[in-house]
Parts: sequence; structure tokens; C-alpha cells
Amino acid sequence: MSKKIGIEDLRSRKWFMNPDNPEMTALYLERYLNYGLTRAELQSGKPIIGIAQTGSDLSPCNRHHLELSKRVRDGIIAAGGTCIEVPVHPIQETGKRPTAMLDRNLAYLSLVETLFGYPLDGVVLNIGCDKTTPALLMAAATVNIPAVALSVGPMLNGWFRGERTGSGTIVWKAREMLAAGEIDDDGFMELVASSAPSVGYCNTMGTATTMNSLAEALGMQLPGAAAIPAPYRERGQMAYETGRRVVEMVWEDLRPSDIMTREAFENTIVINSAIGGSTNAPIHLNGIARHLGVPLDNDDWQKVGHKVPLIVNMQPAGEYLGEDYQHAGGVPAVIGELIAADVLPYPDAMTVNGKTMRENCGALRSEDTRVIRPVSEPMKEYAGFINLKGNLFDSAIMKTSVISDAFRERYLSNPDDPEAFEGRAVVFDGPEDFHHRIDDPSENIDDTCILFMRGAGPKGYPGGAEVVNMRPPSYLLKKGIKALPCVGDGRQSGTSGSPSILNASPEAADGGGLALLQTGDTVRIDLRKCTADMLVDDTVLQARAEAILAAGGFPVPADQSPWQEIFRDRVGRFDEGMTLRGAAEYQDISRR
Ligand code: FES
Ligand code: MG
Repeated sequence: MSKKIGIEDLRSRKWFMNPDNPEMTALYLERYLNYGLTRAELQSGKPIIGIAQTGSDLSPCNRHHLELSKRVRDGIIAAGGTCIEVPVHPIQETGKRPTAMLDRNLAYLSLVETLFGYPLDGVVLNIGCDKTTPALLMAAATVNIPAVALSVGPMLNGWFRGERTGSGTIVWKAREMLAAGEIDDDGFMELVASSAPSVGYCNTMGTATTMNSLAEALGMQLPGAAAIPAPYRERGQMAYETGRRVVEMVWEDLRPSDIMTREAFENTIVINSAIGGSTNAPIHLNGIARHLGVPLDNDDWQKVGHKVPLIVNMQPAGEYLGEDYQHAGGVPAVIGELIAADVLPYPDAMTVNGKTMRENCGALRSEDTRVIRPVSEPMKEYAGFINLKGNLFDSAIMKTSVISDAFRERYLSNPDDPEAFEGRAVVFDGPEDFHHRIDDPSENIDDTCILFMRGAGPKGYPGGAEVVNMRPPSYLLKKGIKALPCVGDGRQSGTSGSPSILNASPEAADGGGLALLQTGDTVRIDLRKCTADMLVDDTVLQARAEAILAAGGFPVPADQSPWQEIFRDRVGRFDEGMTLRGAAEYQDISRR
């Protein structure tokens, strides 16, 4: 460790050792003494480290952080720091109505105020469940005090009758089985619950494993910290090391802006393709980048990420789960394989342990090539996202690694233009409309149809619903048609293997072209040219736009809470990171 700052430079000195204002110093001090902290702990120049606690009974995915934080605290004290644990607004992906995504920016805002307004020199970010990771990284980006993220770790593998059952992914399978009459309600429950056998977050390559892996890819976690399953002993040991390290980082003055650079984001896009990461990742990464003032958009995701192969064989794109990922070497093995094949664009990017990606992972390789493959033998070539544009939207993401051979055969076999297809649009206004109409035979949905979901974006839902991956009608499922092309302005769960075109921006409720689409219109999608257009005359579209305006705008459900109203008023587009208008103008505020 090379010390760059001294005791006098500690931020917490402004509170606890301010010679110009002894009265305020006493006032600040006395209340922290009232539960047993000593003056020496607060005044002798020990860095004061916050633990941003996202674990609670309301957040089962992150709840194990309550235990792990004891080891983080031990590490902080062993390295000469003092620890103050601070609560973070809870976010739980599957339990929050209308959607946990609504709370990402709320948790962000409240943590920014906490880190800025209280005597903290550094922070450990307790990440895990989907939106906790971006919320905490966004806050660390804005405040810019030394910060290390710590994953809570995935759950153990789920099993049912000798087969791995993965979080979320099993739900998509189970609901198809239920709709096709293969299981009953009890069988459905049992099958789904088998995927959650222990503490920790979703054990598939859903948004949680994606974002925890990407926090390590960005350089914001200690090497190897993302993949260790929550109950493993190494998880507690990693918590201890994380606590030790953040104290050193305070003295080194190593800050989020030193680590999360444009180069780090490009590395992260590449790693996201290699792991088969969630389509929620561009929203979150673009959002984190904005708070750092680093330019990043969906064109970058295609340019940097599309050509990268998928090398991690995890559900939903593959077959394995979190424990297997760990046994194969986790994120360091993925990075090692990418560096060995010269695919990682910036191996010399800095990480929180003060070393580069290459120094940390360059010599590492997969320890189980069934789970993490070498780049020369990938699961799929060109596995990153493409960014589609047209008169339906300016930007929408498609995860190419989950396009199945059957889908390719059915929809992409036009000999004139092998990557294009045309279909009849069936338009749903939100998930309730979908559930009402999908099985109605009068809709005449067949395998030439494209399903559209709108009113499901940041303003429409609000927060954006994970509903774009729509199942076909049960009468088609029974005939063996397992998927139809889906397009929408909402999101989809990272645990879904559906090849949807999603996160469409701008959304229908924000002036997007999707608002003008009607059931029965022909839509043309060209995956090679990355275009998506409704083949409808401009004059007709103009007339439809005027009719919507005359009716008072695209209809959205009423706000249910004060935050929903504030959120809708200020929220930006998915492709711009769904950040709050004006928030990204506040950068590096810890020095104010
Ligand atoms: Fe919390 Fe998946 S629901 S991690
Ligand atoms: Mg999810």
C-alpha cells in the first residue's frame, strides 16, 4: 500500500476533529459515543468505513449480508478502521410492486445523501439482488469516496428429480408445462421452490449473477468475489478481505472514478457477452457510466460486445448454475480466458485491489471447461447484444446468445434476406391486457405473428415491467410452438431465454413509435441491418399520432405513490440508463 493521504485529509475529520468549531465537533461526537464507540476510535485518525447494508428480512436475496457484515467489520477493524453500518432502502426483485426497478433510483438517491452527508471516509457496498448492485454503484459513482462492492453470493444449485433447477428460468419452463397441462398447481409450486435451496441471490445467469459479475468486471470487487455461493466459507473470508482492503483504499485515495473508466466499461461489455449476461445490464451500466460522466450508449454495446463469443454455459443460455460457475473459476477464469485469447480490450484496467485485470487474472484459466469454455471453443459466436432502430423506436436491445436454432430456422430463413422476417403485429397494452387476451381464440394468433408489449417502460409502468418475454397462446404451445418473436418497451428478466427485442426507447408513453402500432399491422425486422419498422404509410402514422394527442396522450395507469409521481416526472429512457433528469450533473460530490 502506498499512502497518498494523511490523517488530516480524512473526510471524517470535518465532523470529529474540526479545530475551528469545537462546539460542532462535540455535538457530532457525543451521539456516536452513546452506544459505546470511544473518542479514540472517532478522533485518532482511523478511517470511518460505512457498510451500505442492503440485507433485511424484506430482502431475502441479500439477507445473508447481515451475517457477512460481521466479517466485513472484523476486516475493517483489523486494518485500523472504524465501522458504521448504514441501512439502504430495501430492494427485492420479486417481492416489490409494481416493480423493483422503480426503487433503483430511490435507493440511489438515499444512499447518495447518506454517503455525502455523514462522516464516512469509505464504503463497502453490499450488492446482490438485481437492482441493489446498480443502485449502490451509481451512488458510489456520484459521491466518489473509496468504495468496494461485496456480493452476497448466489444460492446453492437447485435440484428437482436429479436435474438442476435454476432461479427464474424454471418459472418460464414451469408455466409452459402448466399451460400445456403437464403439471398441476402444486407441481408448479414445488418445481419453482426447488430452485431456491439456500440463502443468496438467483443461481442462474439472470440479472443478479450478471450484475455481480459485472461489478467484478468493472474492477469494483476483489478478484473472485462475485461467484462464491453465499453459504460457502470462502464467502465469509472474502467479506473479511473486503473490509481490510477498503481501509487501505482510503489511504491510497483510490476512488470509483479511478476504476470505473471508459476502458473498464468496454471491458465490462465484453465480459457481459462472454457470460451471456442479462438485457438489464445495458440499462444499469449506461446509468452508472452517466453518473461518472463516462459516455456509454447502446451503440457501444453492439460495437464492442456483439462480436464476442459466449463462453459461460449457464442457464438460461446453457445448462449450469452458480456453484458450477464458482467451481470452474468464476469471473477471474472468464477474464483469464478472454485475456489469453486477446479478446479483453483493456487488460491493464485498474481494480480495487490496486492491481490490473491482467495482474489479477492473466494467468488464470477455466477449471471446468464444461462450464467456462476457452474462447476457441465457445458456446456461440457473436453472442453479444445488437441495437435495433427504426420507426418503432430509436433503440432496442436483442440478446443474440439466446436465439435458438429452431427460432433461426422458423423466422430467419428468408432466402432473399436470411436475417429478416415480416409478421403480423399483435399489440398488448401492458401485462394485464396480455393476460386477458393471449388465450382468446378470436385474436387468431398463429406462428406468423409478432407479439408487442407496450406501456411497460420507465414512465408507462412505472419503472419498466419485466414482461416482454410473452408466451404464445396455450393452443399454440400445445401444438409445440414454444416461442413467438416478442418486441416491447418493457424489460425481461435476465433469467428468461426468450430472444426478445426489448428496452425499446423512447417508450410508447414517452412519444415512441410503438404507440402508433396497431394489431394487424405488418412489421419487418432485419437482424443483419439491425432495423425494426412497421410497414405503415407515414400519413396513416401521422393521423394515429394526432388521434392519440387529441385523446390526451398515450394512456398510463394513475400514480399509486408520491415516489411514482416524482419518478415519472424525472426519469430518462432505458437506453440512457433510466437515470433521473439532472442527477448525473452531480459528480464527485464528496469533495464539495
Ligand atoms: Fe433477488 Fe433474483 S430475485 S436475486
Ligand atoms: Mg430479474
